[in-house]
Amino acid sequence: MTMRTSLNSWQALERHAQKMKQQHMSELFSLDKERFNKFSIKLPTMLLDYSKNLVTSDTMHKLIALAKECDIESWRDKMFTGERINKTEDRAVLHTALRNRKLSPLLLDGENITDYVELALAKMKAFTEQVRHGQWKGYSGKRITDVVNIGVGGSNLGPQMVTEALKQYSDDSITVHYVSNVDGTQIANVLRPLDPEKVLFIVSSKTFTTTETMTNAKTAVKWLVSSSFDEKAVSKHFVAVSANKENAINFGIDPDNIFDMWDWVGGRFSLWSAIGLPIALDLGFDKFIELLEGAHEIDEHFSQAPLEANAPVILALLSVWNCTFLGAKSQAILPYDQSLHMLCAYMQQAEMESNGKSVTWEGIEVDYPTVPSIWGGVGINGQHAFYQYLHQSNNVVPADFIGSVESVTPVKGHHETLMANFFAQTQALMNGVDEQQVREDLKAKGRMADYVDKVAPHKVHKGNRPTNTILIKRISPSTIGSLIALYEHKIFAQGIILQICSFDQWGVELGKGLANKIEAELRTGVVNPAHDSSTKELIHYFQTMKSTTV
Ligand code: F6P
Repeated sequence: MTMRTSLNSWQALERHAQKMKQQHMSELFSLDKERFNKFSIKLPTMLLDYSKNLVTSDTMHKLIALAKECDIESWRDKMFTGERINKTEDRAVLHTALRNRKLSPLLLDGENITDYVELALAKMKAFTEQVRHGQWKGYSGKRITDVVNIGVGGSNLGPQMVTEALKQYSDDSITVHYVSNVDGTQIANVLRPLDPEKVLFIVSSKTFTTTETMTNAKTAVKWLVSSSFDEKAVSKHFVAVSANKENAINFGIDPDNIFDMWDWVGGRFSLWSAIGLPIALDLGFDKFIELLEGAHEIDEHFSQAPLEANAPVILALLSVWNCTFLGAKSQAILPYDQSLHMLCAYMQQAEMESNGKSVTWEGIEVDYPTVPSIWGGVGINGQHAFYQYLHQSNNVVPADFIGSVESVTPVKGHHETLMANFFAQTQALMNGVDEQQVREDLKAKGRMADYVDKVAPHKVHKGNRPTNTILIKRISPSTIGSLIALYEHKIFAQGIILQICSFDQWGVELGKGLANKIEAELRTGVVNPAHDSSTKELIHYFQTMKSTTV
């Protein structure tokens, strides 16, 4: 297998990176008035401006040459047509089929999966309407007012992020809550104010084996039965979403209350399936379809646009450029829209669980840095917390700034203040301010020479910090669908360029296995003497302190 490092385009980029490291973006802007036009892409409902990256036209040509040498177009076609590109698990990767709004037939192992998707959507629609219209009754005949989604990782982050993002679109006929953590504090806090007669639980787990989810689901059953005094109440208050029907039935879920999922949908790409049920219950089924339509629009763009104008491909190439060639180690996700306050948490799973790996599809260790760690949070709050680091630390952190042209909750005078910061920050990160300018500014303010000497070095901002700006018309079910799909495809393209299987997650297994063994030790009190001394003594301290009153 050819390693990426032996490709001509890769080697050309390595040489080019040495040259580009001597450049400053502010000079590139002064030299080329067309920079924005050259390095931006207009999609129907959003704009991607990537001109504030350390790139020239030559860089972009070289990056596109890399994408071509990596055969990205044929990989993309393989994904859309259901080839088993999840090589280590021997599975197709077809989350795009869940939002194939053209309803074009798609054969997988001789079966048209579009039919399955449509059937599943029809079941979701009927259920959503029954619950939202009060026809689905709890054990005592009352309508459902609250839905608690029990799930973790992909069975939590996508639906919760979207529910938060689209709060303004909810008619509040149903309140949706999320329980993901096995720390009992979370489920206890969520359940405390709720009335068991009016609560519906969704146990959301692709595998139906995840310990945290099963533990929370059992607690929820106990809570319900302690109020209803009747095990039969479970069928009126519990539904499941899973690819493992057998386990869901064994758990006690009524077979009619199980919504399908398939092994060709990865957990972190699953909010488009019945895993998105809480979204549909909160917003109504029509808005869930709008979400799918928004994503489908980006699927079309990704599959048809030339690489040079293909937003997910460009985002992927820039990430590889910034991290693998220029050496950035992390990447910030900075939404300037409160609706997107969970986007960073969602992106952490989407990108890091997908591409946080260091061997190729063939299992060969790669000799280049792969993906950055993802961090961030709502931009304005970040400005008063960690932006100091973004501007002046000696680590360069490429950042995605995401904002909206219109607020979904217009409050007079707020949006301009918010967006002024949005525009100012990327400008400041790009331009910086040099020592000469700092000194002139201080002098113009009448500062004494010794003060200027003392303070000037601290006020220097080197700038040259790369950012992408994504400006969305307005947060809506459709634009959120588009935004998520944009990032999903970016992650896919990034994985192809880095030669990584983006669709498995073996790295989460080791800790899970050990936790199972240690849990048995905590319950029996018999600690394995073979543990390293740190682990052994930590468990020992935990057990000793448990029986001590402090
Ligand atoms: O542990 C990681 C993981 O497997 C994720 O990939 C997945 O989204 C999450 O756990 C939940 O898995 P499940 O839906 O099977 O409970």
